[in-house]
Amino acid sequence: MNIGILGLGTVGGGVVNVLTKNQAEITRRSGKNITVTHAAVRDINQDRICPTDDISLTQDPFGIVNNNEIDIVLELMGGTGLAKDLVEQAIKNGKHVITANKALIAIHGNELLELAKDNNVYLLFEAAVAGGIPILKSLEQGLSANQVELVAGIINGTGNFILTEMRDKGRDFDDVLKEAQALGYAEADPTFDVEGIDAAHKLAILGSIAFGCKLQFDNVSTEGISQISGEDVAFATELGYSIKHLGIAKKIDNKVQMRVHPTLIPKARLLANVDGVMNAVLVKGNAVGPTLYYGAGAGDEATASAVIADLIDIIKDTVSHDILGWQNFEDYPACDTDDIESIFYLRLLATDKPGVLADITAIFASHSISVEAVVQKQIDSKNNAHIAIITNMIKTSEMNEAVAEIQKNDFIQEDVKIIHVETLD
Ligand code: NAP
Ligand code: HSE
Repeated sequence: MNIGILGLGTVGGGVVNVLTKNQAEITRRSGKNITVTHAAVRDINQDRICPTDDISLTQDPFGIVNNNEIDIVLELMGGTGLAKDLVEQAIKNGKHVITANKALIAIHGNELLELAKDNNVYLLFEAAVAGGIPILKSLEQGLSANQVELVAGIINGTGNFILTEMRDKGRDFDDVLKEAQALGYAEADPTFDVEGIDAAHKLAILGSIAFGCKLQFDNVSTEGISQISGEDVAFATELGYSIKHLGIAKKIDNKVQMRVHPTLIPKARLLANVDGVMNAVLVKGNAVGPTLYYGAGAGDEATASAVIADLIDIIKDTVSHDILGWQNFEDYPACDTDDIESIFYLRLLATDKPGVLADITAIFASHSISVEAVVQKQIDSKNNAHIAIITNMIKTSEMNEAVAEIQKNDFIQEDVKIIHVETLD
């Protein structure tokens, strides 16, 4: 089996290293000798994390997808422009394609999968979601008897690494992000990680596989972690929660709800204790109940583990992705975000004067919102009170209207911070 790799960076280099160190095991499982014969890179003279003596390196990626001696192409370069053209060309040339590129699948997956079906080849992407965790295979195989009710996951390693370091070591956001980039966790454009876009790509894929619907990236409501302050982290800890960046997908009344946002989770929940670059995905099936999948969400060899599992599936012809069934997937409508019911955490900076809390709770009462917990920090040097509130379960539109009313009061000194709370019961 001759393999051509597009991109020999963190993931591509990891694939070569794992194929080398686990060669005997991989040959035993796949029944074939797997040889990486060609790899395309941007800069042929750059140092690599893997040996390249036996690989023909090229700066012409089309030379790989058009090479008749290559059986399977691994797209590990990223992006949705050139990568899409290359994947299309490889498929049209009758080659199976494996990619770790969640952006490509989330945005162009519907058409690429159809193209793959038309050309009778596979397009697989286990490594695109949650790094080394075989979550797509779990949904398609192990949980195939279930109707999935909920998927909730920490699905961006960089974001989780940043939040963990901020909480445990009080480190600065930008400083931790630089370390995540140096470790190879972050996307080429790290705003994809910190603004939630990467997690939204992954959630679109998870939702599609979990609910049997077409990919609907445009329907994922997305919020990143860049607005989470040290004060939010401290308040959450005091109230008994951890702040995690969650991707949540639910199907209710034949409508799909997909959202990515920072979330307070009770500390007792397993997901609240998933730290650093680790990812975890909670899946609730209507037969099995809650199940949890945990593992490294980014990094060279962890991601390579998922890429190579797809490779072995293709070679053994044990592919679980029901490519032919894909065309029958439903196109469920998206749920309006205003209709989503949630518990909320609010953080307010208010002038310390009598009646402020009474005014806030009066506005809550007029919207049928009750206060489940409240913490007030000492008054600061500017005579402002720092207040954190946990509400009851309430419709998002109701919460937004109440906050808009609170915000109009001149005792409010800055924008009220709103973060979802999930008990994951
Ligand atoms: P990376 O380290 O930046 O590697 C990208 C590779 O692609 C590099 O070898 C680069 O060449 C090559 N490349 C880029 N543009 C090219 C072009 N125009 N022509 C030829 N080669 C080109 O990226 P990565 O972290 O491995 O990520 C690759 C993909 O995997 C992305 O889609 C990413 O989202 C996904 N992914 C990454 C991880 C992770 O932990 N890093 C985990 C899961 C999924 P040079 O080396 O010469 O620059
Ligand atoms: N940048 C991604 C992350 C890589 O940090 O999760 C893995 O998909």
